[in-house]
Amino acid sequence: MRLVILGSGRGSNAEAILRAQQAGRLGRAKVGQIFSDKPDAPILELGTRFGVPARWLDPGPFKTKFDEAGEARYIDAIRGCAPDLVVLAGFMRILRPRFIDEFPRQIINLHPSLLPSFPGLDGIGQAWRRGVKITGCTVHYVTAEVDGGPIIDQTAVRIDPADTPETLEAKVHAAEHALLPAVIARLSEGRPLR
Ligand code: GAR
Repeated sequence: MRLVILGSGRGSNAEAILRAQQAGRLGRAKVGQIFSDKPDAPILELGTRFGVPARWLDPGPFKTKFDEAGEARYIDAIRGCAPDLVVLAGFMRILRPRFIDEFPRQIINLHPSLLPSFPGLDGIGQAWRRGVKITGCTVHYVTAEVDGGPIIDQTAVRIDPADTPETLEAKVHAAEHALLPAVIARLSEGRPLR
């Protein structure tokens, strides 16, 4: 199973995927390409560290969406990789139906909350401010409804009295780093949860 990873930032989840691959814990999946919409995103450094092609791809002038030309560039470039699965690992840009329909049920997203709670930006901060005692992370198929597609799997994270926004963030990220590679491995072996 060939993977394309899209990310905008730190790339800690892309790194977790690549580490799982190195350790033989990614099932039949293999990362073929990383694209970032931010030219200086640390996620691009994973390319040289792990020997995977990684490059910036111009999304166009907007901050959180594509323009027509940017969208076409992404669709063409991803198609060119002939992926079985496109993994959004911290990709902070909304995909329109035209994009999603190009890769039906082949795009998954990681979100830092127990969806359907706290969709959108800053899922961890939203949960913290709301004062919930359990939050977590979700991997789901991408549909036109932002953070609303069918849920594949989730991990719960308890918010303890001693937690701070920083410790909660670290706990959710640790849960993500385990969940996302495990979901990919399972999908690659034809063992989806649903
Ligand atoms: C992750 O926490 C991911 O859940 C979140 O961005 C972070 C990326 O971290 N994604 C979203 O909020 C998408 N709505 P990373 O760049 O270190 O993998």
